[in-house]
Amino acid sequence: MQLKHQLPNGRRLIVLEGDITRVPVDAIANAANSDLAGGGGVDGAIHRAGGPAIMQELDRIRPALGRLPTGQAVATTAGRLPAKFVFHAAGPIWHGGERGEPEALASCYRVCLALAEERGLRSVSFPSISTGIYGYPLDLAALIAVNEIIAFLSQPAITVEDVWMVLFDPATYLAYQRALTHGTSRRASRPAEA
Ligand code: APR
Repeated sequence: MQLKHQLPNGRRLIVLEGDITRVPVDAIANAANSDLAGGGGVDGAIHRAGGPAIMQELDRIRPALGRLPTGQAVATTAGRLPAKFVFHAAGPIWHGGERGEPEALASCYRVCLALAEERGLRSVSFPSISTGIYGYPLDLAALIAVNEIIAFLSQPAITVEDVWMVLFDPATYLAYQRALTHGTSRRASRPAEA
């Protein structure tokens, strides 16, 4: 299942149910953690599919960087993945919403999109950052993700053309579909189911 939302400037947000390691794009965002040491969930899937080159590059980055602040991201090779880069973002752990979680989650999307733009990339994919092990409520996270991506894509003269939200299970897909369909009344165009 997928849902395409085209903006007046031709940029697109595509919401897709699937496995992010199998969708060819220029950069894949990873729901990582501040230690950049790998993990389960989508982080584990990305490292398994991309192979050891990704962790080798993180091992080189880690000493200089220390811990990656929540809401920030770093870029590495994508190894064997169908992409040029992986952007490892440290999403917030949900503690009830009063500890800066919404700002940190929005920052993950903004920083990864800025990394894509700096590299002149055309397509980026995201998983549903923080809504797995980190426990962020799905509908709240989906609204933040969709609003950040659409705000970014609405800017003039950006190189990024397509942003993919690749959602692993039907409940997550439906939450993003709701966010895209009913999220804001300010949007100029309506999404089309494909
Ligand atoms: N493709 C797309 N989405 C996936 C995939 C995949 N192959 N595998 C899992 N997911 C989904 C999950 O179903 C969930 O909807 O990614 C979303 C985010 O879940 P997590 O991977 O648990 O990420 P998060 O909640 O941000 O927790 C991050 O988990 O794996 C560790 O190292 C990671 O410590 C960090 C923490």
